[in-house]
Amino acid sequence: MTGLTMTRRALGAGLAAAAVVRPAFAKSATELTARKASVQLAPEGYPATEVWSYDGSIPGPMIRAPQGARLQRRLVNALDVSTSVHWHGIRIDNAMDGVAGLTQSPVAPGASFDYDFTLPDAGTYWYHAHTNSMEQVARGLSGPLIVDEADAPDVDRDEVLMLDDWLIDPETGGFMEPFAHPMMMSHGGRTGNLVGVNGRFDFALTAQRHERLRLRLINAANARIFVLRLQGMAGWTVALDGMPLRAPETVEGEIVLAPAQRVDLIVDVTAEEGSPAGLLMSQDDDSWVALADMTVSGSRARVARPAPAALPPNPRTDLPDLAQARQVEMAMEGGAMAGMESALFEGERLGFRELVSRGQFWALAGQVGRSDTPFASLSRGETVRLRLSNDTVFPHAMHLHGMHFRELRGDGSLGPLRDTILSLPQEPLEIAFVADNPGKWLFHCHMLAHAASGMTTWIEVA
Ligand code: C2O
Ligand code: CU
Repeated sequence: MTGLTMTRRALGAGLAAAAVVRPAFAKSATELTARKASVQLAPEGYPATEVWSYDGSIPGPMIRAPQGARLQRRLVNALDVSTSVHWHGIRIDNAMDGVAGLTQSPVAPGASFDYDFTLPDAGTYWYHAHTNSMEQVARGLSGPLIVDEADAPDVDRDEVLMLDDWLIDPETGGFMEPFAHPMMMSHGGRTGNLVGVNGRFDFALTAQRHERLRLRLINAANARIFVLRLQGMAGWTVALDGMPLRAPETVEGEIVLAPAQRVDLIVDVTAEEGSPAGLLMSQDDDSWVALADMTVSGSRARVARPAPAALPPNPRTDLPDLAQARQVEMAMEGGAMAGMESALFEGERLGFRELVSRGQFWALAGQVGRSDTPFASLSRGETVRLRLSNDTVFPHAMHLHGMHFRELRGDGSLGPLRDTILSLPQEPLEIAFVADNPGKWLFHCHMLAHAASGMTTWIEVA
């Protein structure tokens, strides 16, 4: 009758069901498949690495859509373990937030889940696994998510640079195990021995002198705080964590990018042809090394241009009304060398040693990990001031799902909107936000080994 029937008949009943391949046209363009893949992360001469990937690549495929668009992705889980996808920084419908055990059930091996949500804000975001993320993100389950403003800034090129590191056994090319390593969990987290951009240890760009680039930097590493410097380029910070700054700020000195944070830069290439240019990173010994090399060849006719205009603002980004705000406090405790005495874990008060024996090291507001009840129950529209005291000896990249917040600085001024903020030891920090997105939202450290060993809590907005 039809070609399709013919084909089916021709395939024959003898073929196993698994061998029946769906016709090419039925492959939905909106699938995102979590699966194993072999990727050459380490330099030539070292073995390839068996990764867990989205669609077989590190990083996962670039997902790009216009602001206001509806994004649909069917997560197909071809891994041997359950997983889920979190759309980091998107002010999303709670049911689509991807937190296994809080906003959805984990997606079992062989199963799928349809993510379907709108993108209210333009900017630089990313997506990553949010089921056992300490291991799954380290194995490669992350990718960039870019939401384009209707009025894009006037640049010659738009480049997404996903910064990451991997902890690899040079003998085998495999990831070092275990992922739940007590020393890493109780100290700074899992830091890689191989650093790279867009899945390459030797990522490089080419550019012309006087070219103007938009660089979107995303820190996808489990724990590494990138300290960066521009070489042969000069420019402005125009957005943080996706959200435009009110006015571009000249980049002077170092750019600090904590895990999960993003920064959008607009830079002009100032280097002469053949002179060194690129993105440098600071190493442990304070020396600087190229993270992304830029080869400058030729020159654009135009010389120095005026400073760029601010990016168009996103909706619902008014300053919160602090006069009416509810004040809440959260102590951050635990880890090595900080002397946490005890905390609540799964309904019991446990001493630090008992916590350690259960693989737990950290507490937020006296609670280790997520409890059944939220840290705070907020009414929709309420403004909250959250005071964090970092009583540990480590920095933590604190991330709130579903809403962006501003730092409330000592002088009373409000910082730019962010979804992840770096908290330094013994430095009090206060953030404020309008709880305008209903649902159950995580608040956790994005040093993922910390999140997995106690530094995760949640709030409810109703
Ligand atoms: Cu980037 Cu809880 O996530
Ligand atoms: Cu932490």
